[in-house]
Amino acid sequence: MGLMETKVTSVTHHTNTLFSFRTTRPNTFRFRSGEFVMIGLPNVGMPNNSKAQLLRAYSVASPVWEDHLEFYSIKVPNGPLTQHLANINEGDKVLVGDKPTGTLVYDALLPGRKLWLLSTGTGFAPFSSIIRDPEVYEKFDRVILVHGTRFMTEHDYVDMIVEGTGRLAHSYEWWKHEGQLRYVKSTTREEDYTTVYHKRITDMVEDGSIFWNENGGPDQQQFDPETDRVMICGSMAMTKDLASLCEGHGLKEGSLSQPGHFVIEKAFVS
Ligand code: A2P
Repeated sequence: MGLMETKVTSVTHHTNTLFSFRTTRPNTFRFRSGEFVMIGLPNVGMPNNSKAQLLRAYSVASPVWEDHLEFYSIKVPNGPLTQHLANINEGDKVLVGDKPTGTLVYDALLPGRKLWLLSTGTGFAPFSSIIRDPEVYEKFDRVILVHGTRFMTEHDYVDMIVEGTGRLAHSYEWWKHEGQLRYVKSTTREEDYTTVYHKRITDMVEDGSIFWNENGGPDQQQFDPETDRVMICGSMAMTKDLASLCEGHGLKEGSLSQPGHFVIEKAFVS
């Protein structure tokens, strides 16, 4: 794998622990919605061997058709990379691997009608790209994005991107399927939770509330292997727990070599 040098064009701090940044996009760089790349900073080496380049996997959060790249990151105190990355500024250099990869891609899923994008925290990043890909609305009738966090403010970046897709609906002709995207958010540690679900996504699957429609009625009782496809991205525990719930509903995990009903990727941190 080679590393490409990109330049930071903007940095936005969303909360004390979450930020996103944009970089230039090299002309030759191609990726599929949902894929990740390796990211590093010049002069930031491995903790025990500063000469070796320190790299971390980051999902590309920008859509495939944008001329910049965007990444969404957590700030881990003393995290080998993020403690430096959190301080980058416009004009700084960021190294981006030239081999995007990952399993959160349409090709790892069998054809279906509903696509469920289940995420916690920065696990939203690959879905930020997918929900702005016109292809997803050709492949699926409905796209249901579910984002779980501890606190409300951690939805801010997602809110902004989803609102942006609303604006895109009016400015792009290809976005002809308005109403196809549904955004459901849950928090688990807020005191005032009148406007969102107050439970883990796993609990929403178990008690069936994830299947309620906009009018509060049940659309279905569980995932249906005939029609539902699921992408999961979050912490190790979250991906594991949701994967076994999916299996309990009769869904089979897919991969590029053997497409299935659901795919997982853990959100990468440090
Ligand atoms: P909780 O507050 O009950 O731990 P984190 O920041 O730790 O990754 O958590 C983000 C969100 O994911 C929180 O709402 C957290 O709930 C939830 N979460 C943590 N572990 C799991 C799990 N195993 N399955 C589903 N949701 C989880």
